[in-house]
Amino acid sequence: MSFYIAGTGSALPEKVVSNDDLAQFLDTSDEWIYTRTGIKRRHVLTDERLADLAILSAKRALEDAQVSADEVGLILCATMRGDTFTPSLACAIGEAIGSHAPAFDLNAACVGALYCMEVADAFISTGRADTVLIVGAEAMSKLVDWEDRASCVLFGDGSGAMVLKKGTGRLSAILSTDPDTHTIRMPNIEGINSPYNKNPQEKLAMHMDGGEVYKFAVNAMGHCIEEVCRRANLTPAEIDWYLPHQANARIIEASRKKFKIDKSKVLLNISEYGNMSATSVVVLLDEYARKGTFKKGDRLLFVAFGGGLTSGAVIVEWNK
Ligand code: ACO
Repeated sequence: MSFYIAGTGSALPEKVVSNDDLAQFLDTSDEWIYTRTGIKRRHVLTDERLADLAILSAKRALEDAQVSADEVGLILCATMRGDTFTPSLACAIGEAIGSHAPAFDLNAACVGALYCMEVADAFISTGRADTVLIVGAEAMSKLVDWEDRASCVLFGDGSGAMVLKKGTGRLSAILSTDPDTHTIRMPNIEGINSPYNKNPQEKLAMHMDGGEVYKFAVNAMGHCIEEVCRRANLTPAEIDWYLPHQANARIIEASRKKFKIDKSKVLLNISEYGNMSATSVVVLLDEYARKGTFKKGDRLLFVAFGGGLTSGAVIVEWNK
């Protein structure tokens, strides 16, 4: 017995920054950003804490699932970095909803929510929890280099959540890593206060080889789709909805074409949010769930890639 998705929620910062807004202080344009990435605007944190968004999306998902805090047996937060190194965002969520369940953050970059689904599956299928709250939350605007036009225009902030309950839904998954510490990396501020630290400090910002990420992503997403379908004894044509990580509309389209996936099944919302890393597939799920897109028994395929380099895919039948 594994899980089904019982509820979803999301929360985004109030401030919306358009491509034209970025062109006010960067040598860029709406035309360049939109044609290269499919992004039109993104939400950006101002004075809110990331935890505020994470808590709000968690509460919305619990309400949608009609689950109370004391029913939650595990809280997982997919994030590259919360407001504080400790306590974790997951603990902040636990405090806000009044839960004593085990809670921890998980960093698998943009694939974080899929990794959390597999940890949830392990807890549920071994009887350690019946209900798991997963929250994706990222403050990308605090991690990027705002002087690097090739990367800062790509990202956005936000949070999405889902409640997984014991039952029938998850069909198969693949999680994978192609170890590579150069193509996407973001140094942290470790050692900055230590008088014994003689390492020169790197700029606290995202460093990314966009072209390499692009090539990796197109193939990794396709291979994950083929493998996760094989594990579920399904063909890609038998999937009803594809929920790909929203990093770049061109990457999604190239992967879709190369691996011959029906365009009408591929869900997109990147134009409004940019790349929200681990949050992206969860906000996508919430948006389309609330529109009533998914019917009982539909097969949803989540697929993502990110820093690590991580990649993965999960197939879940919509049994809400
Ligand atoms: N505005 C205007 N011009 C720009 C901008 C910008 N924002 N950024 C770069 N350019 C310029 C470059 O300097 C280059 O100019 P040059 O030819 O004079 O040197 C030109 O545009 C073309 O640059 P390319 O890198 O060739 O553009 P490309 O078509 O490859 O698109 C992009 C770049 C969008 C970054 C693409 O490579 C991409 O999307 N890669 C994947 C990135 C990604 O998905 N990252 C997610 C990582 S997951 C994670 O971070 C957690």
